[in-house]
Amino acid sequence: MTKAGVGALGVVLLAVLIFLGVSSWSRQPAVATPSSQPINFPHNTHVGTYKIDCQYCHADARRSEYAGLPSVQRCLGCHKIVAADRPDIKKLAEYGARGEPIPWTRVYKLPEFTYFPHKAHVQFGVACQRCHGPVETMTTVSARTGPTLVNDLLHLAGFRAAPPPLSMGWCVDCHREQNATRNAHAPLDCIACHH
Ligand code: HEC
Ligand code: HEC
Ligand code: HEC
Ligand code: HEC
Ligand code: HEC
Repeated sequence: MTKAGVGALGVVLLAVLIFLGVSSWSRQPAVATPSSQPINFPHNTHVGTYKIDCQYCHADARRSEYAGLPSVQRCLGCHKIVAADRPDIKKLAEYGARGEPIPWTRVYKLPEFTYFPHKAHVQFGVACQRCHGPVETMTTVSARTGPTLVNDLLHLAGFRAAPPPLSMGWCVDCHREQNATRNAHAPLDCIACHH
């Protein structure tokens, strides 16, 4: 190919890129994206309005270290029919059709050198909300839209409100309190949480 040919091709490619850029930009809705999740999953609708149990979706919490996230198939159990015409549900169906898991962004995460088992806590009857806040009111986990103005503003500006800190002091304080008030045997030795 001649130099001019390569140059012309470059110009065409650039034009295509600009066109794609502008057209996808103009498709953006006029409001700030309410979450950085691939699908805007509203806990408040599912748990608050429709009273679906936390453990229907986070089914491993009672029996394993992890709480777990529901499979696409579990969502589609309802959404093959419910709200099937909405954009987020169409996205959901596409993940299902491709057989791909939804790449959810993790919210709560401890450093690798710590050990946290859900099982022990859930079986002892510590409520999910005690550690995760009033999830049933949240449009996005950890962003308490509604109750506080600051979180709403953060959210509108495209930031996530900070989840409760998962510091070592937070774990140990509760263990002390539960041992004193509920006759629990929550560990205070280093090796229980670091191994
Ligand atoms: C037990 C039934 C059920 C299950 C399971 C379920 N949903 Fe829903 N979902 C609903 C109902 C009911 C609504 C409210 C629909 C309406 O507004 O009419 C809803 C609403 C939604 C919406 C809001 C739709 C919109 O734009 O208004 C999204 C997004 C959504 N669900 C995603 C999911 C995902 C992702 C899962 C799996 C993790 C899931 N749902 C599992 C019943 C369910
Ligand atoms: C219909 C299914 C469904 C129900 C019911 C449900 N969740 Fe979820 N939950 C999800 C999905 C999907 C995600 C991942 C997307 C997100 O973070 O919003 C999630 C995320 C979370 C997270 C953040 C996980 C992380 O990344 O660290 C917490 C905490 C959580 N849920 C707690 C709860 C609690 C507590 C309840 C009951 C009050 C509950 N969930 C009920 C589907 C559900
Ligand atoms: C004692 C505090 C505590 C309680 C009670 C608790 N969690 Fe968690 N949860 C955590 C911590 C800490 C993490 C981060 C764990 C990690 O990174 O290893 C977490 C992570 C999660 C996650 C994301 C990772 C995963 O495990 O799949 C989900 C979902 C979740 N919790 C849901 C729940 C639900 C639902 C309940 C109630 C049935 C619950 N949690 C009860 C402290 C708690
Ligand atoms: C809201 C109170 C509370 C918080 C916060 C909490 N725990 Fe616990 N923890 C408990 C209780 C209650 C038990 C169970 C005691 C029992 O079974 O007697 C427990 C038990 C444990 C156990 C022992 C599990 C077993 O199999 O014996 C570990 C490990 C643990 N917690 C780690 C953590 C870590 C790490 C954190 C912080 C990220 C944390 N916990 C935060 C209340 C809490
Ligand atoms: C009940 C659970 C628990 C117990 C008991 C515990 N830790 Fe931790 N530790 C944690 C968690 C959770 C973190 C991560 C905190 C963070 O990332 O902010 C942590 C963090 C640390 C760190 C990293 C520095 C820091 O502060 O983030 C060190 C060092 C540490 N722990 C040492 C110890 C020693 C030594 C003991 C015993 C005297 C101990 N831990 C007992 C849960 C525990």
